[in-house]
Amino acid sequence: MSNIVDPNAFQALVASLMRQSGWTITEVQKNNVGYDLEARRGKELVAVQCKCYRVPAKVPQVEKFLSFLESPEGARFTQGILVCSSYFSDKAKEYYWRSDNEVKPRLRLAVVEAGKLTWLPAPPGEHLSDNSKIDQTTYLGVFTCKGGVGKTTVSAHLAGAMALSGYDVALIDLDPQKNLSTLLGEGVLVPNRGRLHQHSVTIYNRDEWDFKAFSGVRLVVCDCSPAFDSNPREMIEKFDYCIIPTTLNPLGLNKNGHVITSTIEAIRTINRKAQLFVLINNYLEDDTSRGRVLRKAYFEYFGALAARDPKFKFIDPEDVAIRNSKQLFYWGYHLYSGERPQLAFSPNGGRCLPRADFLNLLEFLEEHSKLDDLKKRRGTPG
Ligand SMILES: Nc1ncnc2c1ncn2[C@@H]1O[C@H](COP(=O)(O)OP(=O)(O)O)[C@@H](O)[C@H]1O
Ligand SMILES: [Mg+2]
Repeated sequence: MSNIVDPNAFQALVASLMRQSGWTITEVQKNNVGYDLEARRGKELVAVQCKCYRVPAKVPQVEKFLSFLESPEGARFTQGILVCSSYFSDKAKEYYWRSDNEVKPRLRLAVVEAGKLTWLPAPPGEHLSDNSKIDQTTYLGVFTCKGGVGKTTVSAHLAGAMALSGYDVALIDLDPQKNLSTLLGEGVLVPNRGRLHQHSVTIYNRDEWDFKAFSGVRLVVCDCSPAFDSNPREMIEKFDYCIIPTTLNPLGLNKNGHVITSTIEAIRTINRKAQLFVLINNYLEDDTSRGRVLRKAYFEYFGALAARDPKFKFIDPEDVAIRNSKQLFYWGYHLYSGERPQLAFSPNGGRCLPRADFLNLLEFLEEHSKLDDLKKRRGTPG
């Protein structure tokens, strides 16, 4: 419960809490009866009604907001959020959970508690509906116990490839160095020629991410800290997939082989379900036999591991690798040139290796994992 008694201050607090979670907020005119704030994030457009009451909000407030959502003016919002400074009465909660109003699934109730937005559970049954599977979130970690191998580069551009393919993605910066936040700020829209909608990559830091509040997000990518223990355990537990980037040069191979083995052992102490993929980054195509010899050495290195762990796979760089490119080398140059944050997906002389490689990686993951389920659902409204 917040102690705020001034409606304007309460509204400003709600706006700032939502902004921290990546929403763009517009305040609406004071005499607007339907709602107080308009919130946008990706494809979502949400009407927010703030109730600064000393007593719990009651049935009529919920009813009134539902009828607004039903009205022609309310129909354009993907959701309505009713936020209360105090709590909701038991009757109001019961009304919200039990009523068979058609627009009810678009309504969420929240309270401000200890300086955070806390959601009331969605009505029972809603979670059990067929949509619940579609709403399930997939967590993907990018992790190697080593700096400089491309974790930040890979996580950002894999999220970008997902956005190119039609998903809105949450990209979580778990590295205390906060490179992602420095590079991409609050996130980017990923332009996609030929598609009507652009999709977003929104950056959150570890303190902003809240499993409950973001239950509608379907894809979460984490740029992990190379220090295993400094990653939040509850995040590692959630990973369905983990990409382990490494390099294929002889020195790297020698040094990284055991780093990868210990990376995998560390992940497995917490998470046994995640599918683990070793991905070669900074790959130089080479028409001599060197590439083949090194690949073979890596396959041998990981042979025993793959035999022990059926959910481990070393991705053959001939199938999928992230090639060495100027675009990725200079990614982040915008910090110095003053341009807007962007991913390295712009063509350079007509082609863009990173764009092709990350789309290829996404396709590989879809083929070799349950991410395929998402692909099948792509284009399904919801
Ligand atoms: N495929 C690539 N081609 C060229 N440069 C790359 C590539 N991948 C990463 N880099 C560069 O390597 C450096 C380290 O990458 P980064 O993603 O920051 O690694 P990490 O997050 O593991 O510390 C960065 O300067 C990045 O621009
Ligand atoms: Mg990094």
